[in-house]
Amino acid sequence: MTKKAFITGITGQDGSYLAEFLLKKKYKVFGIKRRSSLINTRRIDHIFQEIWLKKKNLTIFYGDLNDTSSLSRYILKIKPDEIYNLAAQSHVKASFDIPVYTSDTNALGALRILELIKNNSSLHKTKFYQASTSEMFGGEKKISLTENNYFKPKSPYAVSKLFSYWTTINYREGFNIFACNGILFNHESPRRGETFVTKKIVDGIKKVLKKKNKYLYLGNLNAERDWGHAKDYIPMMWKMLQQKKAQDFVISTGKSLSIRRFCELVCKQYGFNIGWKGKGLNEFGYVKKIQNKNLSIKINQKIIKVHKEYLRPNEVNFLKGNYKKAQKTLGWNPKISIKELIQDMIENSEE
Ligand code: NAP
Ligand code: GDD
Repeated sequence: MTKKAFITGITGQDGSYLAEFLLKKKYKVFGIKRRSSLINTRRIDHIFQEIWLKKKNLTIFYGDLNDTSSLSRYILKIKPDEIYNLAAQSHVKASFDIPVYTSDTNALGALRILELIKNNSSLHKTKFYQASTSEMFGGEKKISLTENNYFKPKSPYAVSKLFSYWTTINYREGFNIFACNGILFNHESPRRGETFVTKKIVDGIKKVLKKKNKYLYLGNLNAERDWGHAKDYIPMMWKMLQQKKAQDFVISTGKSLSIRRFCELVCKQYGFNIGWKGKGLNEFGYVKKIQNKNLSIKINQKIIKVHKEYLRPNEVNFLKGNYKKAQKTLGWNPKISIKELIQDMIENSEE
């Protein structure tokens, strides 16, 4: 029988890839989009239109994780086999400015769905995936993090995600609901939101090369992240829900590099080398060597500057995941290298 999946956050980076993935697996896919004054379905328009023209396997409703009434109406009507809770106020820096909204969406949003599953016998077989995050660890020590490491959230975002993480486990253990946490480390793609650092760097350097901007402004260049490709990570969300027993998994690449190093790799891919001078807020990146003679930049030209606007009140300094459990149980191995990720982001960036 055709399986039904309900995706919150379907208009986001991960939601759009997951919808494509599940449609290929012949699922009927349902999702909610938020009402906004500008069109916010750019990431799914291609599948939406194709399906619309042929057979309608993808249905999108207006809805919001903060609106229990719309959630319950759709979920009770559809009775999905699987629910993927990907919707979130997902920007860590923004969460310091809008902590209450962030918590309402990220923490209570998951609880609202789990309550629906718990309280309706027609949903007793519905499986639940929660988009948990490496941010929960806090990144104070330079260690490889497993499912068993302790958490020390450093932002309203991370605190809110810790609430939904534990709620997922509580509902699994207390009410026998098939509910899993995917503890995913940073994953990027050409569909990444423009204000996350990898996309900002790829687009920002391109704007400097096209003379649209003089500089790219960044915050903390020393933070280190474990970056993978979203396309690699998405199938694991599905795989977690196909296991006999519901459990939580770290998904990562096991490698970590700094924002500074990521800038260097991006510049290299564009055809030049970047050097660094100065310290702290006075640090800047300049053109050191040019390989691609078609580029309209000059040696010693300053292109990256640090600005305090992009620093955070509290920083997660180091994240590196240990994915041994997923490797053993789910057969997970990251396939796309950081260089391939950057190449994909450069070639398919809309800027
Ligand atoms: P994203 O691109 O920011 O997408 C977030 C999605 O949530 C968008 O569809 C957004 O809608 C929707 N949304 C936000 N607030 C909502 C609300 N109140 N009601 C309904 N929908 C709402 O994030 P992503 O990178 O795809 O990440 C997906 C999930 O994984 C998030 O929960 C994130 O916290 C988590 N996560 C991400 C990473 C990563 O590195 N990408 C790592 C670990 C965990 P609009 O399109 O209208 O904004
Ligand atoms: N966004 C941003 N903009 N970050 C910057 C900048 C800048 O100009 N300059 C330096 N950074 C640093 C941040 O301080 C942080 O240490 C690092 O770059 C990564 O920032 P983001 O790309 O915003 O991602 P994040 O790691 O904070 O959060 C992302 O990954 C989490 C998983 O660990 C988001 O996708 C979260 O939703 C996700 O949970």
